[in-house]
Parts: sequence; C-alpha cells; structure tokens
Amino acid sequence: MSRRSFLRGATQVAAAGSMIGSSAADEMAASEAAGASEVEALRGASELEISVNGKLRTVEVEPRTTLLQALRTHMEPPLTGTKEVCGMGSCGACTVLIDGQPAYSCLTLAATCAGRPITTVEGFGSPDAMSDVQQAFCDKDGMMCGFCTPGFVVATHAALERAPEADLDELKYQLSGNLCRCGTYPHVFEAAQAVQEDRARGGEGR
Ligand code: FES
Ligand code: FES
Repeated sequence: MSRRSFLRGATQVAAAGSMIGSSAADEMAASEAAGASEVEALRGASELEISVNGKLRTVEVEPRTTLLQALRTHMEPPLTGTKEVCGMGSCGACTVLIDGQPAYSCLTLAATCAGRPITTVEGFGSPDAMSDVQQAFCDKDGMMCGFCTPGFVVATHAALERAPEADLDELKYQLSGNLCRCGTYPHVFEAAQAVQEDRARGGEGR
C-alpha cells in the first residue's frame, strides 16, 4: 500500500469516526468523504490554513495532528475552549462545528479541515456577549466541573438549529453524542428548553 493511499484511507476512517448523531450521519459521511478525497499526502510538518470562527488561521501540523490538537496547541494564540477528555470519540467534550455540523475534533485530522469553516465554542460568544445558549447554561446551572460544557454548548446550538421545536425526548436524542460525568443532564435540557422558549417569544436566537 502506498503512503498516499494509506493516508487517504486513514483520513476517511478518521472522518467517518468523527460523526455525531445518526440523524446527520449520512450527510456528514458524504461531506467528510468529499473533504478526505481532496487531501494530498503530507510529509512531516506542513503549513495549513484553517478558517476558525470566521478567521483564517495558519497552523503547522503533521498528517497525524487532530483538529483538537491544532486548535489547542498549534495555534497562536491557542483556542482552548474546546476540551479534550477521552480523546477517543466517546464523550463529546471536543465537539465543534465543521461545515455547520457537529463533529468530534479529537477524531478529525486537521489536514481534512482546510477550506472548511470550523466553529468552536468561542465562535458563539464571549463572557461579555454570550450567545443565548451560553447564557442559558449559566442561568440554569448547566455545569459542575465544566469539562463537558463547551461541547454541550456547541452541540446544543447545532441541535436547536437542526430541530428548533424538539421535545424533551428529541433533545435528549440530539445531545446523545455528549456525556456529562457530573450528571448535569437535567440542567442542560432545562437550558436548551429555556432557549427554545425565548426564541419562540422572539428572542435574539444568537
Ligand atoms: S475528547 Fe473527543 S469525544 Fe471525548
Ligand atoms: S459538568 Fe463535569 S463532566 Fe459535565
């Protein structure tokens, strides 16, 4: 097997593994496969331009560098809002949006992200100007240790975009790719429902 075909296979496996939520699985698979098929074989560290939160960022990455590593340790300044907890695609703490769809950044190779818009938790708001979801997590006490919270915030934005009128069962399904080891689920769902109610009353929907 050539190095090129190995890398291509690896990026396709990694891309498929980064998908979250079976409701979006087919769309994400097609999108990830399209991105992976355009990846050229990389040797050693290479410069890569990635669009993160609307800004082009240049990072030096190896073929094996994940998007999570690129965000947290390869950028200057680093974007540390996205958390690493399991590092193996089982908890959702590292959730970001790629092409508007939630994905595990710990399972996504940075090299597959060139030319694809990435949104991290920092892209939704700041401590001084929080998004409605971020504000609701604060108002409803949707966190304890907080390690899962950035991933939940990103996933909640995506869930409410995908299913704005979801009932509680649907919200649980939409957020089933994210785990909270502190057990704050009731507060997380309360936060999501508060945002739904606010948006239904004509809130900003940031
Ligand atoms: S850190 Fe990526 S899924 Fe857990
Ligand atoms: S608040 Fe601690 S893991 Fe969720």
